Amino acid sequence: MQLQEILYSQGFGTRRVCAGLVQQGYVTVEGRAEDDAFAEFEATDGLAFTVQGTPWIYQAKAYVMLHKPAGTECSQKPSTYPSIYTLLPAPLRQRPNKGAVQGVQAIGRLDQDTTGLLLLTDDGQFIHRMGSPKHHVPKVYEVTAKHPVDAAQVQKLLAGVVLDDDPKPVRAAACEATGEHTLRLTLTEGKYHQVKRMLAAVGNRVEGLHRSRIGELALSQDLAPGQWRWLAPAEVQALRGGK
Ligand code: URA
Repeated sequence: MQLQEILYSQGFGTRRVCAGLVQQGYVTVEGRAEDDAFAEFEATDGLAFTVQGTPWIYQAKAYVMLHKPAGTECSQKPSTYPSIYTLLPAPLRQRPNKGAVQGVQAIGRLDQDTTGLLLLTDDGQFIHRMGSPKHHVPKVYEVTAKHPVDAAQVQKLLAGVVLDDDPKPVRAAACEATGEHTLRLTLTEGKYHQVKRMLAAVGNRVEGLHRSRIGELALSQDLAPGQWRWLAPAEVQALRGGK
């Protein structure tokens, strides 16, 4: 693949901008300056380059985890709080997809006040698979409740509660009290405000909500709120269910 095409595919701007960056000497590949925009690189996967000093590794598709901070919206066009997309570097937001600039997209949404693990990708099939109710990917939430959590509430959450938009009960795949006011809840669906509505249905109220895990993948302990990192290929494969 030509160097200008490599940069373009990774979100560094239009082909013309990418060619300009190379010709003006802003690009190094595997530690060497490269000013030929048409230089060919055969093995692109894992290719290390820098653009204006920013280190980057070529990835055919981008899969990242973000530690979502409170007070951010998962929308590209937020109404009240800053968008989570402002926490990502420009190339991740500008990656082209089928000819258009689409960048990575969040897989599902968290409320503005919810913190924790959010996955983003530009792989449409992966978004579809992870979001599909057929695949039942378990999501683990750490809940801080206003009122003490008792055994009856835990039992009801496990047995199933009816929410206002559907007569079919929704149940937690797992639920355990982790403290007087805290509980860990595992859900395999993703209804609107589901954790908050389930807690309300058992007479309690969510005061704090944090997603700690999606399937096999836990939020990295060393990722501070607002930080992101690439997923390793094995992590993506595990989320796909080993396929
Ligand atoms: N359930 C909620 O109520 N809010 C979230 O952000 C996620 C799950």
